[in-house]
Amino acid sequence: MSFRLQPAPLARPNRCQLFGPGSRPAIFEKMAASAADVINLDLEDSVAPTDKDSARANIIAAITDIDWGNKTLSVRINGLDTPYWYRDVVDLMEQADPRLDQIMIPKVGCAADIYAVDALVTAIEAAKGRDKPITFEVIIESAAGIAHVEEIAASSPRLAAMSLGAADFAASMGMATTGIGGTQENYYMIREGQKHWSDPWHWAQAAIVAACRTHGVLPVDGPFGDFTDDEGFRAQARRSATLGMVGKWAIHPKQVAIANEVFTPSEEAVAEAREILTAMETAKANGEGATVYKGRLVDIASIKQAEVIVRQSEMIAG
Ligand code: COA
Ligand code: MG
Repeated sequence: MSFRLQPAPLARPNRCQLFGPGSRPAIFEKMAASAADVINLDLEDSVAPTDKDSARANIIAAITDIDWGNKTLSVRINGLDTPYWYRDVVDLMEQADPRLDQIMIPKVGCAADIYAVDALVTAIEAAKGRDKPITFEVIIESAAGIAHVEEIAASSPRLAAMSLGAADFAASMGMATTGIGGTQENYYMIREGQKHWSDPWHWAQAAIVAACRTHGVLPVDGPFGDFTDDEGFRAQARRSATLGMVGKWAIHPKQVAIANEVFTPSEEAVAEAREILTAMETAKANGEGATVYKGRLVDIASIKQAEVIVRQSEMIAG
């Protein structure tokens, strides 16, 4: 480990973030009753320009009126290139109940985007005497966002989570796809005459995970558009979990259970992690730094890998 230790992210379950348009208040109760760890009420791209004011009012009322249980409650504001975002922040910070936990900032391109929102939020918190600091989450969904991902991850102590937004990211990068996440038909290699599909989101995801882990931020996979394709969603979520992401968005309620399943370490995985820790205790007692577990090498690095799984499972259970 470097002299500078890797900071821990917020210890909260973040396996699934369920989205719903602020212009569709009829689904808010259903969102609150879902099994998602995080609720994202949207003011941005799922809300038409003519509905921005009413969606804001719906959300502010629902933050008070609905019992959101112990979920993390987040509102996605409009992007900093729109005329709406300052009103989103001012009204939420001045009018919404302190139950509001988090603000999601979309389409961030540089650390100064977070700085601008942070300055406004900090001033209103002080003016209103709000003693529960609002956390931020951001979406990396542009070429600038991924190019500046590390400075964005380091931008504010408020920053709790960072997601990859596949659709806007693909558009900004000029990627030849209209799919929202998942396997892309034309991203394949040929071996012995057979097509083998690869993952066009892999690099951006790995870059986000590295930036997040460096700065103590939760890395999250964004939307998977085809909500009729459960196996496609599951495969994408499993790839994200393998890369170090802690959760995934749901843009339809049927995706929540799959995300929770994938991002909750299985009983077998937890049992195996505990066995590895025990094997390494024994090795240590014998003065050894490495040993053999089920025919494979485990060493001091394996302790850290096993601890990640055990910690994740304990945090979800607790
Ligand atoms: N959260 C909670 N419940 C939802 C929901 C959501 N996001 N979306 C739909 N439901 C409910 C419906 O009200 C319906 O409930 P019912 O069985 O009591 O009637 C049930 O789930 C099935 O809904 P379905 O008919 O399959 O979907 P729909 O056509 O009503 O809505 C979408 C489909 C995609 C438009 C809708 O899910 C949605 O708006 N998703 C979020 C979009 C969003 O926020 N995007 C921004 C981030 S990318
Ligand atoms: Mg987007």
